[in-house]
Order: sequence, then structure tokens, then C-alpha cells
Amino acid sequence: MKDAAVVTAEKPIVSEPEPAATRNETLTITDSRTSKTYTAPITNDTIRAMDLRQIKVRGDDFGMMSFDPAFTNTALCESSITFIDGDRGILEYRGYPIEQLAENCSYTEVAYLLLHGELPASEQLTRWNTEITMRTMIHENIKKILDGFHYDAHPMGMLISSLAALSTFYKEAKNIHDPANRRTQILRLLGKMPTLAAYAYRHSQGLPYAYPDNELSYTENFMNMLWKKTELRYKSSRVLAHALDVLFILHADHEQNCSTNAMRNVGSSHPDPYVTTAAAAAALFGPLHGGANEAVLRMIDEIGSKAHVLPFIKKVKAGEGRLMGFGHRVYKNYDPRARIIKQIAEEVFEVTGRNPKIDMAVELERIALEDEYFIKRKLYPNVDFYSGIIYEAMGFQPEMFTVLFAIPRVAGWLAHWEEMLNDPAQKIARPRQVYKGPARREFVPIAERG
Ligand code: CMC
Repeated sequence: MKDAAVVTAEKPIVSEPEPAATRNETLTITDSRTSKTYTAPITNDTIRAMDLRQIKVRGDDFGMMSFDPAFTNTALCESSITFIDGDRGILEYRGYPIEQLAENCSYTEVAYLLLHGELPASEQLTRWNTEITMRTMIHENIKKILDGFHYDAHPMGMLISSLAALSTFYKEAKNIHDPANRRTQILRLLGKMPTLAAYAYRHSQGLPYAYPDNELSYTENFMNMLWKKTELRYKSSRVLAHALDVLFILHADHEQNCSTNAMRNVGSSHPDPYVTTAAAAAALFGPLHGGANEAVLRMIDEIGSKAHVLPFIKKVKAGEGRLMGFGHRVYKNYDPRARIIKQIAEEVFEVTGRNPKIDMAVELERIALEDEYFIKRKLYPNVDFYSGIIYEAMGFQPEMFTVLFAIPRVAGWLAHWEEMLNDPAQKIARPRQVYKGPARREFVPIAERG
């Protein structure tokens, strides 16, 4: 796709015709170094960074770039998957409000929506579920890979490694430009994620791996693979299986977050979807992203009791650590997912008994939301603030929390991966830099170095 042109005062550059709706919408920039004026077309409230390249002091200059560490104000794509209004606390998948999807759908239905753009009709959903279910088994050699891990290996490390290992089992997966082949790999990834996650957990517990059970729903099968002992089938509570399904829906996508950006970035060099998904999962692992749910639980344990909440908040305000599960790059309001999770927590506690950590979390939230530091910076609870408390009540150890985030996020990652591959504007992702290192200098032999 051609870059829209910038028109300099001296030499107008002919641009492609613009859509009627955006015609005449321009940004005028005056360069104080040269007093030249440039006009850049505005589309969707953005200007193209490449338009800045026309701004030069000398003819042989490289041209101006935009400088945006951490992409705080850069749109890297046009996307039709997820909409977030961070100021109003709105989250929609393909136009549907997250609250309505959480109330009415199953996770696999939402995965279908993310990947196809529309909700499935009844028979489409049945077929979709069958196709996923038929792909839950993993090659026996993956068990050998997992067996090589130390007993206390973090399950995220095992998950990331086994995801990458799948690349070696499905060599045809590298044919990423074949839509039918892509679809097979997408179904495999959706089907195998809970199995890989459960196997990683079973390994850490020294338990034999439990095979998938095709008679069960997506979440019930996952719970069966996690917790089945000698009985033929683990009896999962309907309430807990439903709560897990809702949590999966809430975590299924979140537009251009760090891991989705990793998926798009790595995917842009066209490796197969298994190694690409492994890269996205690695990005999710960090405590500033999906690793925050684990960090919240550890933080609550560290605080110890409600009496220590205030001194802890003081420390955070003094710059000694962060209030984990608070703050978001996009939400400057209550994260709508946190609101839904807080509600489900009560349903879960009716089955599991109350996790006393919820009271600590509510107290932390109350104090933080009344505090000038958090108000001024618009720091509200995010999705990770309450999720770990539910997971713990359900019997998950903190190490599994980020794995529980990764399982459903695969749907979002893959939806973005396909969108990126089908977008003619996308190329290999390759940002620029502002070089600040030494200027050219001559090599010094080792004997002469001081
Ligand atoms: N506790 C205390 N102060 C905070 C926090 C926090 N959790 N988050 C941001 N701030 C402060 C920060 O110190 C800065 O203050 P100042 O302007 O005085 O320097 C200001 O708020 C802006 O913070 P930032 O780091 O520039 O914001 P960001 O958009 O780069 O970071 C964030 C977003 C999510 C990484 C950050 O809020 C954070 O570290 N939160 C805690 C970790 C967390 O809960 N992560 C999960 C995010 S949601 C789900 C997900 O992505 O997986």
C-alpha cells in the first residue's frame, strides 16, 4: 500500500485520491528549522508516520520519524476484532459488549466469534466444538518433553516450551498462506491448550497425565485433566465450570496488548503459528502483563492482614513497588472485566467457601480508590486484581494463574494473527531507532587498550 503523501510548500507530491469522508482533513506542520510548512492527510484521527519522512532540513536527510517508546501513541494496524474505550470502561468483541457475551455465551462460542467475526448459528457451534474436541489429544512425545522439566519448573515455562515444540510435530503448519491449513492449526491450538496446561500442572504435582475426555465441555474436560485421581471422571461443579468458562471469555482478547503485539510482531516474519503463539505466551508471562494475577496473590500474602493495607499503600505511593492488579495502559476507568470477576467471585465462594483474601482485596481497592495518588493517575483495578482470588478458591496454585490467562487468550492471538496475515498493509515489523552510541571510531588492538 502506498503512503499517503505530504505536500511541502515548495514541491507538492501527488497523493492517492482519499475517501470522500476524509478529504480536506489535514494536519499542517511548520518546521521551525526551515520555516517550511507541510500538510499531512488525517484519516481516522491519525496521520501516517511515513508522511513525516518528507520533512527534511537538507535534501539528503533521512527525514523525520516519530519517536514512541513502548508504542504509547502509535496505531500499528487497522483491526475489526476488539474495541476498547478506556475512558468509559467499555470492552466489545466484534461489537458485542463483554457483559452480554459473559452472560450468554460459552468460551468456544466467543472464540468462534473472535476468529470468524460473527456469532455461530447452532449447528456451526456444534461443528466448531466437535472440531476442537477432536484435537485435544497431544503426541505422546510431548509427555517426554514435559518429563524433562525439573519438578518445580514453572508451568508457564513448560507451556511456552511445549507450544514451541508442537511446531516440530506439525511441519505443514509453516504453510501459513493456505487458509485451510491455517484453520487446522487454529483448531489444534484451541484444542490442545487445555491439555498442555493440564499436563504441565500434573507434572509439577508428580501426578500421571490424565487424557482428554471428549464427552465433556471445554472447561469440564480441562478440570477433569487437572484434578482427576483414580476415579473414572472428575465431577466438576457446574458453578465452577461455568465460572471458569466466563473467566475464559473475559480473557479471550484485549486488542493490541503486549502479548498480542508479540503475536503480530513475531508472526510478521511468517514463522508457523506454534512458535508464534509461544512468543506471545512468553510476553504474557511477565508480571506487568498476564503474570500480574500471580503477583497480586503474592502481594496480598505479603501484606498479611487488613491492618497492614494502609502502610502498604503508603509504600507504593513512595515508589516502593506497585499495587499489582491496578492500572492499565488503556483503561483510565474501572476495567469492565474486573467488575464481572468481582460478581462471579461471590458465586464461586458459595461453592468453595469464602477466600478471605477477597476482603483484603476489597479493602485495598477501597483505600486506593479514595487516595489522591491513584485518583490523579486514574489507576483502577484491572482484570488481574480479582481473578487470582477466584482461581485460588477453585484450587489453583498461583503458578497456574497465568496459564489460565494463556489458554483462552490463544483465541485472540490467533484472530489477530490471521487478521495481520490477511492485511495487505502489513509487512515484516521492523521499527526504527534513534542511535545514541559512539560515533565511528577506529579499532584498537587488545594490547593497546587501557
Ligand atoms: N501501582 C502504583 N503506581 C502505578 C501503578 C500501580 N499498579 N501503575 C501505574 N502507576 C503509576 C506509575 O508509577 C506512574 O506514576 P508517575 O506518573 O508518577 O511516574 C503512572 O502511574 C503511570 O504509570 P505507567 O507505568 O507510565 O503506565 P503504563 O501504561 O506504562 O503501565 C501497567 C501500565 C499495567 C504496566 C501499570 O499500570 C502496572 O505496572 N500495573 C501493575 C501490574 C498489573 O497489574 N498489570 C496487569 C495489567 S492488566 C492485564 C494484562 O495486561 O495482563
